[in-house]
Order: sequence, then structure tokens, then C-alpha cells
Amino acid sequence: MDQLAGKVAMVTGAARGIGAEVARTLGRVGASLMLCDVIDGADILGELAAAGINARFRSLDVRRADDWAAAMAEVDEMFGRLDILVNNAGVFIVRPIEQSTEEDYQFQMDVNLKGVFLGTKAALPLMKRITREQDSGSIVNLSSVAALVGSANAALYGASKGAVRAFTKAAAIELPGAGYNIRCNSVHPGMVDTAMAVTALDRFSGTDAEKRATVAARYPLGRVAQPADIAAAVLYLASPAAGFVTGTELVVDGGMSAQ
Ligand SMILES: NC(=O)c1ccc[n+]([C@@H]2O[C@H](COP(=O)([O-])OP(=O)(O)OC[C@H]3O[C@@H](n4cnc5c(N)ncnc54)[C@H](O)[C@@H]3O)[C@@H](O)[C@H]2O)c1
Repeated sequence: MDQLAGKVAMVTGAARGIGAEVARTLGRVGASLMLCDVIDGADILGELAAAGINARFRSLDVRRADDWAAAMAEVDEMFGRLDILVNNAGVFIVRPIEQSTEEDYQFQMDVNLKGVFLGTKAALPLMKRITREQDSGSIVNLSSVAALVGSANAALYGASKGAVRAFTKAAAIELPGAGYNIRCNSVHPGMVDTAMAVTALDRFSGTDAEKRATVAARYPLGRVAQPADIAAAVLYLASPAAGFVTGTELVVDGGMSAQ
């Protein structure tokens, strides 16, 4: 079913991991895509083109307002609209509080929180054109279970993702209040099998397989997430099926944080 036919979606951090899977998932159901990352996006762009998905890629550092302005100008020129923004780009440093530096703090706050703020602000001139007669616009922010429960050796990461959760709820109230037909929700994954998770595994001892088994045992469903588990949640929040869903936090963690 092409539930996003005619829609335009922008995804940050889209070159790999969850962002790339979100791009595949939204593209498969009809969305045209503007993909952004600080690393090269040739692989995902080629894959999407081969699948007949209309996508563009441009270099964008979510910390830079001028990058956002240029990207939005290109979206307007190429597509003339923006329906969905997925603020997915993120960074994760595993380090105890005692050893964490001001640079660790600033880096994670800048990418994980400032990036969401700048992206949301930059998207509004385009997204506020969506009328009440149309399906609502949707902003989906990648937070984490680390925003909901304590995560040892990742206090700064958790703090940045907790701030994303609070920012999301504020935007969900403020934007409709300003007359904009835009919903805003956060997604909270537990561990997801991506390059970022390899960093997280460093917190455990043993072989790679032993570390993965230790982590999987903490999840009631007996495994960590695949990027497709998270992309399915993003698709739901981005789609008309979630037309009355805003300001919510969708936890996708196999029951880990329910314990
Ligand atoms: N993997 C997990 O276990 C997990 C769990 C919870 C939440 N998340 C969140 O999901 C999102 C995606 O994570 P992932 O697992 O795919 O990680 P990943 O490291 O595989 O991908 C992150 C992407 O973001 C990009 N990026 C980093 N800094 C950027 C910047 N300044 N500007 C633009 N792009 C930038 C990277 O180049 C990379 O392509 C992140 O926000 C992350 O915090 C991941």
C-alpha cells in the first residue's frame, strides 16, 4: 500500500543504520526523499535508485543552521513541499561521568539536541504550508530508552535524549497552537543492531558473541532490535494512520524498559 504516495520526507543521518532503513521503508510506500548525512550517501542513494525510489542526497551537518537552510531551499526547489522530517542523526559516547569531558558533553548535546532544534526550526517554513484539509505534517525525533531509564556510562547521551523527549512534547503543543497542521512524536529504541550498538557493546565483557548474548538476555523478547523494527515505528508516526497521534513517546525496545 502506498500510504505515503505524493509525500516528501527528509531524513538525517540517512547514510547508514536506522536512518538508511527509514529511507528504504518510507520510499517503499511512495515517499520522495531528501536524505542527509555528514558521511557519504552514495550507497543508499544507489540502492534506492535501483528500487525506483525518488531520492536525493546532500551533505548536511545537523549542528549547522546554514546547512539546514541550504537543504530546505533544495527541498523547496526540487519537491515544492515537505511533509515528514525524521530527525535521526545522533552520536553516542560510552564513558563514565568521572571520565567524561566538556567536549563529550558539547558534542552529544550539539548533534543530538541542537540538531533536532535546528532541523525543526528549519522545516517549519515549508511544513506550515500544509493545510488543515490535508494529512498532517509529521516530525519524528529519534530519542532512546536512555531518555526514560538510567543508562550507566551514558549519562550525557541519556541527558541529550531526555531533552529531545521534552523538546518533542513542547513542539507537539506549540505547533498546532500556532495554527500549523504538524504532529511531533519521539521514538525510543533500546539497543538496535547498527554501528552505534557496537560502541554500546564495549560496556560488556567477553567475546563479541558473549556480549551480544548478555545484552539480548536483558530484553523480554530475547533479542535486540533490527533497524527495520524502528523504521516500522517511524513509518507509523509519519503516516496518516497516526493522524491523531502527537506528543507521544513510542517505545520500541522489546519490553526492556517495562521491567
Ligand atoms: N543503535 C542503537 O542502539 C540506538 C538506540 C537508541 C537510539 N538510537 C538513535 O537512533 C539514531 C540512529 O542511530 P544508529 O543506530 O543508526 O547510529 P549510526 O551511528 O549507525 O548512524 C547515525 C548516523 O548519523 C550520522 N551523523 C552523525 N553526526 C551527524 C551530524 N552532525 N549531522 C548529520 N548526520 C550525522 C552518522 O554519520 C550516521 O550515518 C540516533 O539518533 C541514535 O541515538 C540508536
